[in-house]
Amino acid sequence: MTSSAYSASAPVPPTKSLGIGAVGAGGFGLFALQQFLQISGVHLVGMAGTHREAAVAMMRRFGVPEIVEMDALLADPEVDLIYIATPPSLHYPQALAALQAGKHVICEKPLALVIEEADELVALAREKNLLCIANLMQRYNPLFESVRSVVESRVLGECLHGFFENYASDEGLRPDHWFWDRAMSGGIFIEHGVHFFDLFEGWLGPGSVVAAQRALRPGSGVEEQVQCTVRYDRGPLVNFHHSFTQPSRLDRQEFRLLFERGTLTLEEWVPVRGRIRAVVNEEQTRTLLEIFPGARLDVLKGLGGSDRAARGRFKELDLAQEVELTFGAGDDKMRRYCELLRDVFADQLAWLRDRSHARKITEQNGRDSVAMAVAATKLANLSA
Ligand SMILES: NC(=O)c1ccc[n+]([C@@H]2O[C@H](COP(=O)([O-])OP(=O)(O)OC[C@H]3O[C@@H](n4cnc5c(N)ncnc54)[C@H](O)[C@@H]3O)[C@@H](O)[C@H]2O)c1
Repeated sequence: MTSSAYSASAPVPPTKSLGIGAVGAGGFGLFALQQFLQISGVHLVGMAGTHREAAVAMMRRFGVPEIVEMDALLADPEVDLIYIATPPSLHYPQALAALQAGKHVICEKPLALVIEEADELVALAREKNLLCIANLMQRYNPLFESVRSVVESRVLGECLHGFFENYASDEGLRPDHWFWDRAMSGGIFIEHGVHFFDLFEGWLGPGSVVAAQRALRPGSGVEEQVQCTVRYDRGPLVNFHHSFTQPSRLDRQEFRLLFERGTLTLEEWVPVRGRIRAVVNEEQTRTLLEIFPGARLDVLKGLGGSDRAARGRFKELDLAQEVELTFGAGDDKMRRYCELLRDVFADQLAWLRDRSHARKITEQNGRDSVAMAVAATKLANLSA
């Protein structure tokens, strides 16, 4: 392992192994690091963490001899990149300190709790030519590209409406967990919603929050449900609903996109499978199968003769059949999740080695997803 005779703002030479310093040895830090460290050309230099039991577990897992303070990681020339997996209110000060110390940053979502802080981080990273992304790994899902192709190709016509229903579990979130403390988490839109604002922006482009509400749990008063409506500039209205209210056995998430000639549904919050129910002509059937290779096509109804002619939104349509397309990989959410983490890290590392590499997510995704989440939070605050 070579350490640095190179400047952090310059491309990382192919022969150099990238040294990682990890800050925050909790549940997700352990999960993500196990994936990042599988990418060749990186190694773990050291770890900082405040919760003794979790930190000791991390030490055992990675064979790290001791837990140090974050300052020691920042002062270590062998550390090129700081991975931050602490509670959200620490992301801004820790990312800022890391950038000021000349380290690249991969930060758990959200990048910051307020937009001014996200802007400051992005500006500093640009000025110093350093990496500073939020770990928004959803766009690395192959289904992200497939849905984008359905939208962009207009194979089902225009996208008119979207829905993301996130009926999540709170089983692992004790009453004293930082998640419920909005000063630490920012609230559900900021802590969690950023993943989905980023995903839908990748599909539909820019948009603005036009309505938002929140609901508090009777008794404790914690925020347990939030929802908002985003109007995308290209037309569709999308409803986002997040609730953390149930045992994990009931965990259920569904994305739905309504198009002029059909509906696309994805299941799980890291989507792994889905289906399209649509009325299509011959070319459109072929295009769908090109976008979803290996999908199962069930023809539910053949439309012939006068049945071919139909109307919708004042438009004449020519249809050949009603179909259901089923695609994806059963219940393999955790495998897909691991794969996305490896992919996000490999993509960012490729950019560190060659700045002409086009990344799937950049600093801007972290910043823009916080902007939308903050706008939703402000509107929701007016409701309760
Ligand atoms: N990208 C994803 O899909 C995803 C999924 C889950 C969680 N997360 C994010 O990961 C982050 C951590 O979540 P978690 O579930 O692992 O929480 P956690 O509470 O399990 O872990 C946080 C850890 O940070 C440590 N910590 C607190 N203050 C510290 C400090 N000053 N210095 C060093 N360590 C400190 C705590 O001791 C704890 O071990 C959050 O931002 C969360 O939003 C991301």
